[in-house]
Amino acid sequence: MAFPPNFLDDIRTRLPVSSVVGRRVRLIKRGREYVGLSPFSNEKTPSFTVNDEKGFYHCFSTQEHGDIFTFLMKTQNLSFIEAVERLAEEAGLEMPKATPQEAAEAARDTKLREAAEAGCAFFEQMLHASEGRPALEYLKNRGLTDATIKRFRLGYAPNGNLLKNKLTARGVSEDLLLDVRLVSPGKDGRESFDFFRDRVIFPILDMRGRPVAFGGRVMGEGEPKYLNSPDTPLFHKGQMLYGFSLARAPAGDKREVIVAEGYMDVIGLAQAGFTHAVAPLGTAMTEAQLAILWRLAPEPILCFDGDRAGRAAALRAAERALPLLKPGLSLRFAMMPAGKDPDDICRREGAEAMQAVLQAAVPLSDVVWQQLLAQNPADTPERRAGLERAAQAKAGVIADESVQGQYRQLFKTRLFELFRAPSGGQGGGKGAKGRGFPFGKGRKGPTPDRFAGFPPSRPPGDADSARKHRERILLATLLTHPDIFDHVEERLGRLDFADSRLDLLRQTALIHVAQDPELDFGGLQAHLASIGFAAELETLLNSTTYVHAGFARPTAPKEQAITGWDHTFALCHRADLEADLKRAELELVENPSERALAAFEALQKQVRPPGDEDSDEL
Ligand code: UTP
Ligand code: MN
Repeated sequence: MAFPPNFLDDIRTRLPVSSVVGRRVRLIKRGREYVGLSPFSNEKTPSFTVNDEKGFYHCFSTQEHGDIFTFLMKTQNLSFIEAVERLAEEAGLEMPKATPQEAAEAARDTKLREAAEAGCAFFEQMLHASEGRPALEYLKNRGLTDATIKRFRLGYAPNGNLLKNKLTARGVSEDLLLDVRLVSPGKDGRESFDFFRDRVIFPILDMRGRPVAFGGRVMGEGEPKYLNSPDTPLFHKGQMLYGFSLARAPAGDKREVIVAEGYMDVIGLAQAGFTHAVAPLGTAMTEAQLAILWRLAPEPILCFDGDRAGRAAALRAAERALPLLKPGLSLRFAMMPAGKDPDDICRREGAEAMQAVLQAAVPLSDVVWQQLLAQNPADTPERRAGLERAAQAKAGVIADESVQGQYRQLFKTRLFELFRAPSGGQGGGKGAKGRGFPFGKGRKGPTPDRFAGFPPSRPPGDADSARKHRERILLATLLTHPDIFDHVEERLGRLDFADSRLDLLRQTALIHVAQDPELDFGGLQAHLASIGFAAELETLLNSTTYVHAGFARPTAPKEQAITGWDHTFALCHRADLEADLKRAELELVENPSERALAAFEALQKQVRPPGDEDSDEL
């Protein structure tokens, strides 16, 4: 509501701050000001001052600062309007009436909300009526419990014009139903009809949990899969997030919010315990939605399908967010295995698998960096300069100066690492490591870093070099057989090579093959060479590799490549476990404890009994 000019000032003039504050805080006059113990902190010496002339209070211990209205809002948890109402009354001023137009709009809004609520309740009721039996069965088949169905107020829209007939008979006027689009106007003088028919209904609730729109899913095949309410006076798609009202409190508690793609993802996540999930409504993320997300948590985690469309969507989201970044506010990106959504993962693989996906989320800066690399070859001085310029231009779109500065710095460091001549060896070059978007799934085995500081437990050089040798074979086999990508993507994505240049090549190769599944060995090799990996390719793709691993030869058949790859990977994995076991053993000897024993025994179980040593090809 807009107040007439001077209305708030009139209240301020009549009610000095000291009189409003003085009811709650004992104030002592000190010159032109009053001082007292801050109501905002637990203090023993007064740091709270009130200045009637200036009309404000200030707390030196919490930096709280404001006028009579904010004082009431903060100390009594009132909305601004409520605070104005109270103080106006106290000041003997009448609250201004809304204009007739404002009053009419507010009344209409209330009616529309009532109609939407009546529709929502009707759908819920129908889900448990005989008409709704197949719909209820459908939801149960998808693994939803009664509690979940109730929590999300899921329902069923029957066939025919049952909603219109029932609700108008109960006194809800048809034009309200038309306005919230529960009923569609009939064309060419024909009768209006129910918008949703024979669909499972997912009500869309506003920020305060009131239904304002609906999504309806077909139960079998049929187009569209989801039918959604269009924008109405109550519903503005781009400014809402599905599940928000339910996710708000849990997200606030956890300081984390998950952003999935659809209705069922939010619901499946919630049922698996991730109650802090929301989804945009079938569109790319808008600025308004980002703003809402950032009010919930500093780094919302966006989940994307690991397929091509999902990666493209992730890049779009990154681009949208980049200009809006603020100190502390960013996004993280969790990539699901291709073809799966959070609902699938929660239901088929469980909450732990979902947690692993979330934990492996990569920061926005990595997504942007990987995209820059993928788009800008860097094999000549001119092209390097081009990449450099593209990177600085990317950073330049960030409006916030300090975040922009950080991005410029980060890109500089990464460019330096990238352009540095390949060392061909270990160590250094850490900064060049992206975190592996969109393939980094978090590493399971020990990283060289985990050994640092424990020289006695560090396995001898042999284990290290065997490991590196296998890494080279795994990567070489993908390069010579890009068509095994689908088979190896997930596992190769999870590895984290010890050699930073090879690790960058691993990530880059995965990205390129993912983006262009048609790429063959020659095409991929030419491309990677053109963006600065010629030297690494030479060290990988040569007879030394092929002698040890015949299946890595470009001429080896695909099946052989797959079998060889799987075998090599298994050896890597096994070696990781064994290294873990050795360290656990040492720990047990040096610091015997229940926990150390349990860790040791758990690992021992995983490592199969010896006698199955590395095969000769490695
Ligand atoms: P998906 O096609 O990925 O479906 O659409 P889903 O969420 O996995 O749904 P289930 O598991 O098959 O039931 C993702 C989101 O895109 C919007 C919806 O919001 C959906 O949740 N969408 C999809 C539509 O609005 N209309 C459609 O026809 C399809
Ligand atoms: Mn789904």
